[in-house]
Amino acid sequence: MKSIAIASPKGGVGKTTVALQLAHAIVKRGYRMLLVDGDPQGAIGLSLSKELNASPGFSSFIAEGRALAEVVVRTRIEGFSLLPIGRIGPYETEAFGAALSDGTRLERLTAEAEPDYDLVMFDTPSGFGGITTGVLRASTHVVSPIQAEPVALRALTQLLEMVQVLRQEGAQVRLAGLVVTMLQVRNEHSFDVARELLDQFPQELLFSANVPRDPVFLEATAKGVPVGLLRRPAPPVTHVFDLIAAELEDRVGLTEQARSDEPQPFLV
Ligand SMILES: Nc1ncnc2c1ncn2[C@@H]1O[C@H](COP(=O)(O)OP(=O)(O)O)[C@@H](O)[C@H]1O
Ligand SMILES: [Mg+2]
Repeated sequence: MKSIAIASPKGGVGKTTVALQLAHAIVKRGYRMLLVDGDPQGAIGLSLSKELNASPGFSSFIAEGRALAEVVVRTRIEGFSLLPIGRIGPYETEAFGAALSDGTRLERLTAEAEPDYDLVMFDTPSGFGGITTGVLRASTHVVSPIQAEPVALRALTQLLEMVQVLRQEGAQVRLAGLVVTMLQVRNEHSFDVARELLDQFPQELLFSANVPRDPVFLEATAKGVPVGLLRRPAPPVTHVFDLIAAELEDRVGLTEQARSDEPQPFLV
């Protein structure tokens, strides 16, 4: 089973958005997904329903040793489950991070998830506090959203250093790729950053599809659904995440039972 952290040193770059949309896109490709909200703010929960953050969730799994199956929340989409953050008081955030930081407690999570899921995806809080460090230690891969603005390049260097340090310590985490988010092709600065990323970093680090700035993400959050479920037909930007999901599949070596290289029957 693969485990993917969505992480970045910088806040507000689109981690939660990428985690939710990409998770949905991967499920549409036939994989069984557990999306874990690792942000004490409960950002995934807030994007979907206020009630979600009232369920026991991740914090009960860690602090009370509850079984994963007891705290997972199913969705109406087959093969797509959520682990909400659970209740964490403002004074408990640090202890939660400290409990996670060496990654060992997350090994129980991935072990319990293994029979039921092909993939666990973690949304994380910004920076490299205990939660994010623990998640990175326990993950096979990391995907990092890069906002198309000048400070993004420094954040990227920090992320690459972090991955290197963790790997030197024995973690297996690899950078699966960078997703350029909130790209405004008509904005000179936004476009320049995207071009600088292309020039400075090896092509293989960047996913070929970029996420444009689009008000539809806010609309989907207000309605509590991934953008792909906002309306039918789905908003066009959904397609970007379908492309990223397909690329990620190869980059992390996902294998699905139903995978087939044979063309599917078409004409009757
Ligand atoms: N591509 C996008 N276009 C427009 N707004 C976006 C986009 N991605 C994210 N946002 C908005 O920007 C804000 C920050 O995004 P979020 O995913 O919460 O970032 P992070 O998790 O890194 O803090 C949210 O209000 C979100 O709805
Ligand atoms: Mg977030």
